[in-house]
Amino acid sequence: MARQRKPLPVDHTNSRHSKKSPSKTQVNGGIFLYWRQGLVVICLVIAGVIGYMGYLETRVNTPFDEQKMVIKSGLDVPDRYWGSYRPGLYFGMKTRDPYSLVTGLMWYFPHQLHPDGGGIRHWCEDGDNLDRYGWIEHDGRTFGVQEIEDGPFKITTSFVKKPGGRRGGDWTARISVTSQGSQMRYELVSFLLYSAIEEKTKGWIKPSRFGNQLLTGVTGETDGLGAFTVKFYNHSGQVEDVSYLSTITEGLHVLKETVITSLRVITDPQKGIQKRIILPGELLPSSGAEGKRAEPNLVVTQVTARVPFELEMAFESGSYFDRPGSLIGEAYSRELSRLQDDFHHKFEEKFRLEAKGYKPDEIAFAKAAFSNLLGGVGYFYGASRVESSYTRGPVPYWKAPLYSAVPSRSFFPRGFLWDEGFHGLLISSWDLDIELDIISHWFDLMNVEGWIPREQILGQEALSKVPEQFVTQRNTNANPPTFFLTLHFILQNFADKLTEKEGHLGTLERLYPRLQAWFDWFNGTQIGDLSGSYRWRGRDALTKRELNPVTLTSGLDDYPRASHPDMNERHVDLRCWITLAASTISEIARILNRNGQKYGNTYDYLADNSLLNELHWSPRTQSYADFGLHTDAVVLKHPPPPKSPPGHQVPQNTDKIRVVLKDPELRFVDSSFGYVSLFPFLLQILDPASPKLNKVLDDLINPELLWTNYGLRSLAKTAPLYMKRNTEHDPPYWRGPIWINLNYMVVRALDHYSKTDSPYREKAKTIYQELKQNLIKNIIKEYRRTGYIWEQYNDKTGQGQRSRPFTGWSSLVVLIMAEIY
Ligand SMILES: *[C@@H]1O[C@H](CO)[C@@H](O)[C@H](O)[C@H]1NC(C)=O
Ligand SMILES: *[C@@H]1O[C@H](CO)[C@@H](O)[C@H](O)[C@H]1NC(C)=O
Repeated sequence: MARQRKPLPVDHTNSRHSKKSPSKTQVNGGIFLYWRQGLVVICLVIAGVIGYMGYLETRVNTPFDEQKMVIKSGLDVPDRYWGSYRPGLYFGMKTRDPYSLVTGLMWYFPHQLHPDGGGIRHWCEDGDNLDRYGWIEHDGRTFGVQEIEDGPFKITTSFVKKPGGRRGGDWTARISVTSQGSQMRYELVSFLLYSAIEEKTKGWIKPSRFGNQLLTGVTGETDGLGAFTVKFYNHSGQVEDVSYLSTITEGLHVLKETVITSLRVITDPQKGIQKRIILPGELLPSSGAEGKRAEPNLVVTQVTARVPFELEMAFESGSYFDRPGSLIGEAYSRELSRLQDDFHHKFEEKFRLEAKGYKPDEIAFAKAAFSNLLGGVGYFYGASRVESSYTRGPVPYWKAPLYSAVPSRSFFPRGFLWDEGFHGLLISSWDLDIELDIISHWFDLMNVEGWIPREQILGQEALSKVPEQFVTQRNTNANPPTFFLTLHFILQNFADKLTEKEGHLGTLERLYPRLQAWFDWFNGTQIGDLSGSYRWRGRDALTKRELNPVTLTSGLDDYPRASHPDMNERHVDLRCWITLAASTISEIARILNRNGQKYGNTYDYLADNSLLNELHWSPRTQSYADFGLHTDAVVLKHPPPPKSPPGHQVPQNTDKIRVVLKDPELRFVDSSFGYVSLFPFLLQILDPASPKLNKVLDDLINPELLWTNYGLRSLAKTAPLYMKRNTEHDPPYWRGPIWINLNYMVVRALDHYSKTDSPYREKAKTIYQELKQNLIKNIIKEYRRTGYIWEQYNDKTGQGQRSRPFTGWSSLVVLIMAEIY
């Protein structure tokens, strides 16, 4: 992996990072003794080099040196202090503190419980095979309603927050279960509702019985929350058993395991074989010589009841003295329905789906898609693991919070840089404050080099979901800078809101130097050999196993690129991202009255179609393409078996390797038509008067290439690697299936060209309508059929596939319905 870093000026060696001792270098000075001055100079140079190496080593995890973006957090933003910020759980609440009190829900049906704990639901797991789950209403601030279908049972989790006091107020969650059809009525269900504090939380919790209440609640106190109680109310239904657990857990990543090892199965002597499954109450080791009991950090309340059943869990802040009454029962129902009304009203005001003639069930679908994105916003805290060519192995990034949506609550319940730029389009349409706060958190993760790690695995819970080999992030590696898409979108649609509200322009002011640094990082580290060209770093030129070395950094993973990565490669998508970045910064500079001339010039240079065409237009196929050392003649094959003595069978267990049948040559990678070929059009760099626009439009509607009845596939059917595996173990990912983020960009571009003066605007308009309909129709059809929104859709059948629910960028279907681009 070549590094493109320019040497830094020497005066940096005196910076605060040159902490390595110079004494080691003096040993080598002996032979120059008679050159006293020369010696000093040489020592200084060697010390300088060592100090400089130390300096380089620490750069990767040194924060960007400017005012922080997030200036208000925790209790300074009381109305977003509490939230459903644990997206990887079916249901859980926490605060926006580095170390919070966390609460959560587990449940099981005793008749399905396995002795090893299988059957207990906690984290959103594909393996649970739920028929459907997700937030169907959520406003990102005050309330949410979620529906979960677990076999014949329907579980509803809702919460409502209530301001009061000085510690973020109260909230109540209502959990209910009903059976669909009468067959499973009176079946037993067990709910486990817990409160836990993380290792570093300053505070305590303990189980408490309140008055004559049946269920054990919690009292506690933490630095952030002050004193509080958690009580259980209004269990309507037939309760069979209650029990609790007060114990010590090793951490949030093993809560379920702690519960499983604590469960006790009891045979009831009266009824013979009938079993009860209960928690044992206090389960605390004694610690220290005096036998003093250790403090619990996990309190679980279990209630086993017959379906249908409902209960409420109320968190009440001790700082709220003049509470008119608890937020339970009727009061809860009234407040919930008031917030629901506001939500439906605001949803129509923002997206106008009713006005556009969508039917009630289509609107309900859109609300669910949107709500599971917003309800999936999490709050994480911890340190990534990073690496540069100057560090000896991976080193920790600094500890930091991240407030961010997630691509998928089950499969990717953490922040991803390039996904988040797409999420931002929907979130800013709903609540600009929330989106600017999300952007602020992400940009605080920028290091002094102007780099932001692309996958954020912060905290124990997040880490436990990621395979070891994907944890470390390298500072040579980029990811599409999609936050420029968000910012561009905000400027285009909500420029008035930016100036009208106090604080918004301040956010842009603080963001500006970081955007500049980000741009410089891209423009410096990802630059290509020829002027005006760019190249994604991080491809493996030496791999023998991959049919086409992946380009994870581009976000398009296995999308075919030049077969032999080298310095000559140039990537058309990256070039277009940088063009968008330059134009967006120059626009922000204008709003802030700064001098953005440099960015304006770079934009003009990159947007010039004649240079673009020279670098990326393939005259042979009449399409935009990457350029590089390439051959299409590659196949995966088992290597020939090693020679073995006659009569001995050699097992064929070696992995297939790539065989190159024809030497690569420098050329356009133009046999692979697909999403990458569309970028000059997608990012609206292509001149509206250009006949090349006409060609792009013709290619779009060609069913042999990308067009399907369900949206545009990622790679043309005619491409050599269409639906080909990249290794034996890696099925095609961006080699055919339909992705919604890119389809959104196509629809958005079609809308743009149909509104721009151009000989092709009518044609663009027709395609716009058709593509939009196809996408909406298929995603809704699949949602009805399967209960989910999916990561991608099959280009032959339209069926949803890979992870689910994927209400990250696939929820952009809401903006397509609303025609907001
Ligand atoms: C819920 O609790 C409140 C307050 O204790 C009570 O007034 C109300 O009747 C209860 N509702 C149900 C359904 O039990
Ligand atoms: C980006 O890099 C190119 C090539 O080094 C340079 O000419 C251009 O000025 C840079 N743009 C900005 C805005 O810094």
